Amino acid sequence: MAQFIRNAWYVAAWSEEVQRKLLPRTILNEPVVMYRRENGEPAALLDSCPHKLAPLSLGELKGDDVECGYHGMMFDCTGKCSRIPGQPNIPPSAKVRAFPVVERYNAVWIWMGEPELADPSQIVEVPHYGEDGWGLVDGQYLHFKSNYLNITDNLVDPAHTTYVHKRTIGGASASDVSVKVEQGDSHVLAYRWIKDEPPVPLFEKMGNFKGNTDRWQYYYLHMPSVSYVDFGGIDTGVEPTEDNKDKGLRSYSFNFLTPETDSTTHYFWLHVRNYHPTNEDVDRDVEHLMTLTFNEDLDILEEIQKEQDRTGIRERVRLGIDNAPARIRKMVERRVAAEQPTDSA
Ligand code: FES
Ligand SMILES: [Fe+2]
Repeated sequence: MAQFIRNAWYVAAWSEEVQRKLLPRTILNEPVVMYRRENGEPAALLDSCPHKLAPLSLGELKGDDVECGYHGMMFDCTGKCSRIPGQPNIPPSAKVRAFPVVERYNAVWIWMGEPELADPSQIVEVPHYGEDGWGLVDGQYLHFKSNYLNITDNLVDPAHTTYVHKRTIGGASASDVSVKVEQGDSHVLAYRWIKDEPPVPLFEKMGNFKGNTDRWQYYYLHMPSVSYVDFGGIDTGVEPTEDNKDKGLRSYSFNFLTPETDSTTHYFWLHVRNYHPTNEDVDRDVEHLMTLTFNEDLDILEEIQKEQDRTGIRERVRLGIDNAPARIRKMVERRVAAEQPTDSA
């Protein structure tokens, strides 16, 4: 059975995808149709007409209402039926489920759980987003044929970098530096420091280091499936306060994973950095490198998914490096279990 946390915010689309037309997208195994209202606000309904279950996305957007393409029933952005052609009375069951949506970080976030619990302050914070002195690459999307938890495994697993990312970000001599793991109420953190080493190629190219560097990799996974990597370096000997780290070379790589089905995932990503913040060539470099890197993950994760589907087995042996991934899966399991009594799905 699918392990989806429903009472959580997921990125449903980049803002620019949601226009004055009907955009269908499957999220947590449910068909959703999104559009933008006349006042510019996004809206999301179950993409399934309550009459004969025709996908509403095959109909038309009329004002703020969606007209079903089969017999013309109309629904407003709250899911209430506003018109049944040839019938004056509207039965109480003539309604469609509406999902809370909110726009943040240039993305439309959706709440697939109980609407009254939807609190936008729970959306994860992206540090330095849109601030002066910080560059941004966003609007990026990949479609993974992989269960989202296989991807969260991967995103808190520094050990795979050396092997999967040989041609991109791997190859640095860090495979033997141990990873520490910490856990909060709704996040797991795996991190390591690689101290007193010559600058890696990115630092040489983009930084302004005097000699050796201390560099850090902090891999966060926020419930349900937002991953971000805080990565950077400072001159060896400089105290690693947040302020000093901001003055070194630093980036935040965010991955917003939205389960599509049990075995496929929408993968939205953005990248915030403090080096050459307004340089478009650097924007392109970041986009190019991250896309190559994530596609390396995609390739191996899709093969893993196939083998898991063939065998019905997820792993035959657990290693020390699986500490952080195992904690995430446990956290997800607990949340999914806690939602069961009130789950209306
Ligand atoms: S199926 Fe939508 S109005 Fe009939
Ligand atoms: Fe990776």
